[in-house]
Amino acid sequence: MCGIVGYIGNKQAQDVLLHGLSKLEYRGYDSAGIAIFDNGGVELKKSVGRLANLAELVDGPDRIHGSQGIGHTRWATHGRPSDANAHPHQDNQGNFTIVHNGIIENYMQLRDELTAKGHTFLSETDTEVVAHLLDDMWTGDLFDTVLAVAKRIHGAYALGIMTKHEPGKLIAVRKQSPLIVGLGEGENFIASDIPAILEYTRNVYILDDGEMAVLTADKVETFDLEGNPTTKEVYEVTWSASAAEKGGYEHFMLKEIHEQPRAIRDTLTGRISEDGQKVVFDEIAWPAGYAEKIDRIHIVACGTSWHAGMVGKQAIERLTRIPVDCEVASEYRYREPIVSENTLIIVITQSGETADTMAALREAKEQGVRVLAITNVVGSSAAREADDVIFTWAGPEISVASTKAYTTQLISLYLFAAWLAQERNAAHVSEIPNILSGLKQLPELADMALQTAPSIEAFAKNWAEKEHAFFIGRGMDYAVSMEGSLKLKEISYMHAEAYAAGELKHGTLALIVEDIPVIAVVTQEQLYDKTLSNIKEVKARDAFVLAVAFEGDEEIKKSVDQVIAIPRVNPFLSPVISVIPLQLLAYYASVVRGNDVDNPRNLAKSVTVE
Ligand code: M6R
Repeated sequence: MCGIVGYIGNKQAQDVLLHGLSKLEYRGYDSAGIAIFDNGGVELKKSVGRLANLAELVDGPDRIHGSQGIGHTRWATHGRPSDANAHPHQDNQGNFTIVHNGIIENYMQLRDELTAKGHTFLSETDTEVVAHLLDDMWTGDLFDTVLAVAKRIHGAYALGIMTKHEPGKLIAVRKQSPLIVGLGEGENFIASDIPAILEYTRNVYILDDGEMAVLTADKVETFDLEGNPTTKEVYEVTWSASAAEKGGYEHFMLKEIHEQPRAIRDTLTGRISEDGQKVVFDEIAWPAGYAEKIDRIHIVACGTSWHAGMVGKQAIERLTRIPVDCEVASEYRYREPIVSENTLIIVITQSGETADTMAALREAKEQGVRVLAITNVVGSSAAREADDVIFTWAGPEISVASTKAYTTQLISLYLFAAWLAQERNAAHVSEIPNILSGLKQLPELADMALQTAPSIEAFAKNWAEKEHAFFIGRGMDYAVSMEGSLKLKEISYMHAEAYAAGELKHGTLALIVEDIPVIAVVTQEQLYDKTLSNIKEVKARDAFVLAVAFEGDEEIKKSVDQVIAIPRVNPFLSPVISVIPLQLLAYYASVVRGNDVDNPRNLAKSVTVE
């Protein structure tokens, strides 16, 4: 996820671009850059780090003059955060200048092809190939060249393109990644998101998937990627600028919950072979024979990432039969864990900066143990210091309460479990194609699970004055209950506890009294009857039971007070779906209680202290 902005008109482009980028920093802030047509040439300035660094570079006498330009704020995917990897990118002649949001999946192949033709690449990004390809395929007409290039690049992209050959023109292309066009008087804009242009106009075109726009200062025309004109309706923005930044959602958390289908899809992209039979993890470069030698895995993480690890433990053990321990990092680092050269340490961390997790990583490395990091942030400490990295492609997570990071961590762990089973030719390897086909359905099923929002909101309105709640489940449902309970505590400030459903009767059942809310997660077929018995135990004490269960489960309806039905999914993968209503429940409880949802008291997004 990155932010792009473009301007053509009569104002100084630098001011418009910097203002637009400041509204898009939530989409990434690893680097920022602008390129502006200046006296017949294009002047380019970019800088690693936050937008403020770029603003300093182009301040005072270094200001770039000109009224046409493009800008970018980067969330690093291919290539670490650096000046060289910052956008905009150009071909070797500087004929074409582009900004990009998305992933060009076939960039390696294109890069090899162009290198063989004499192109020299200056960055590690996937994006740079597009600038070179435009130059290589130049037909003498920008519009035709862009159409031809769009046919050669695969993946997701929103592109802003300008060329020295045709000054006074900007082209925007959209495939999957979002892109809008702002319509002004004698000026026009492109942007990844509406807030970037809201200061200047409220009239926009929202480009459709597979659509492009050709902008001059006075005109905007739109086309499909075959070059046929398309007709667009002007959309008039009525939201406030701050609401627009959240894509119209009231809070970042709600926006991020709703981004999960996209985030899951992105995390799966390129990691399942075309025939759907195998996991492809090019990013893991283990020495020959290492996969077979692993005899123990330690998963180490904190908070929500630890809860993802609890699901990962079960997935890896089930598919590979390697024993897995999953432990909170603050405990692990001080207990002299027993490891050997055949132990693999997996650290899971959204931010890649959590102090306790990083200490565990460093401790493991000191002992000569191989470390695999699962993280969301390219260029983070975890990504730089681990031996191997699996990136979750959730995009920047702003809300302190982690949501899309969790589900994409689960996806990464399922893929890793299947990949490791495959590498070791483990007993359960035959199940992999079926699991992979289930994984591919998850974006759509997550979308369906989001449809539970109105009923959960209604439930939360009558329920949120409670002070205590229990979450119960067995197996993977227990792991999800832990996450549901943490989410509720974190943002609603209600006291909540997660219990393995079978463990309640060993003490905690004493707390179950009339009307106390018990949220039961019931998706594990082989444990269904056992969980049902535990639900009956709490019902017998007059608890109020809300079950999260599969649609069509008639049996559960007879035993509980209310059911939140989620779409049916392979129970092995159900945590990705069953957690969604629990995230929504915490969200709406927090709203009803009038809390600061995105910035809960006493907490920080990235915990870099012990
Ligand atoms: O960045 P990390 O994944 O390492 O962060 C770990 C925890 O601090 C984090 O998951 C925390 O528990 C969340 N705020 C929970 O929503």
